[in-house]
Amino acid sequence: MLNKTYLVTAGPTHEQIDPVRYIGNYSSGKMGFAIAERLAELGANVILIAGPVALEVKNQKILRIDIVSADQMFEKCQDYFPTCDGAIMVAAVADFKPVKIRSEKIKRSDEILTLSLCPNPDIAASLGRIKRANQLLVGFALETTVDEQKAMVKLRQKNLDLIVLNSLGDDQAGFKFDTNKVTILDQSGVIFTSDLKPKSEIAIEIVNKIIESQQGRAGIS
Ligand code: CTP
Repeated sequence: MLNKTYLVTAGPTHEQIDPVRYIGNYSSGKMGFAIAERLAELGANVILIAGPVALEVKNQKILRIDIVSADQMFEKCQDYFPTCDGAIMVAAVADFKPVKIRSEKIKRSDEILTLSLCPNPDIAASLGRIKRANQLLVGFALETTVDEQKAMVKLRQKNLDLIVLNSLGDDQAGFKFDTNKVTILDQSGVIFTSDLKPKSEIAIEIVNKIIESQQGRAGIS
């Protein structure tokens, strides 16, 4: 029985341009939801902060909070993280948002249209700054190539304990698929490499590594 509470972020964020348009990405939310379900199956309480996805939660131990934008996800994470034993940041957060949301629909024209974008908060890094010694922070690294060095840089910059490297360059892995293939790194380097498997099975392996890592840090063998 996993007597702990975890925060999980999942899915994309949508950054509004005008009343009918947004900037988004292809994240389905499946990996984050699978991790939330696995944690709950083991007895943990889960707070799932979900972007706009077409998925349902099965386990009643999951408290689902739906958000749309990165700013909304940021606020909910700030509110809930202090009450959690760890956070798993699976969401594909939009890195930029329009500087200004237009109140009227942008009209078609023959001119080139330039949208000004400003950076969104880095939610994982913000949690890395307030993380307590007994809290575990896990990030995902989405790359178009398998690049362990880039993943390691993200782990350090965001003060993560573990990072799950997910390469869009791998066949049938990542965003749009039901299968995935991951490499997990901690501060010392690669600790796990999976085969290509259904996301529900990958979730079991990721959660096992999270539990092992947290037990190791607490000195439980
Ligand atoms: N992340 C986040 N907030 C953001 C951007 C990313 O919390 N504004 C989290 C993701 O959920 C993931 C990790 O940071 O756990 C890495 O996300 P990724 O998109 O791979 O990296 P970025 O930091 O956005 O860098 P880049 O897009 O330049 O690769």
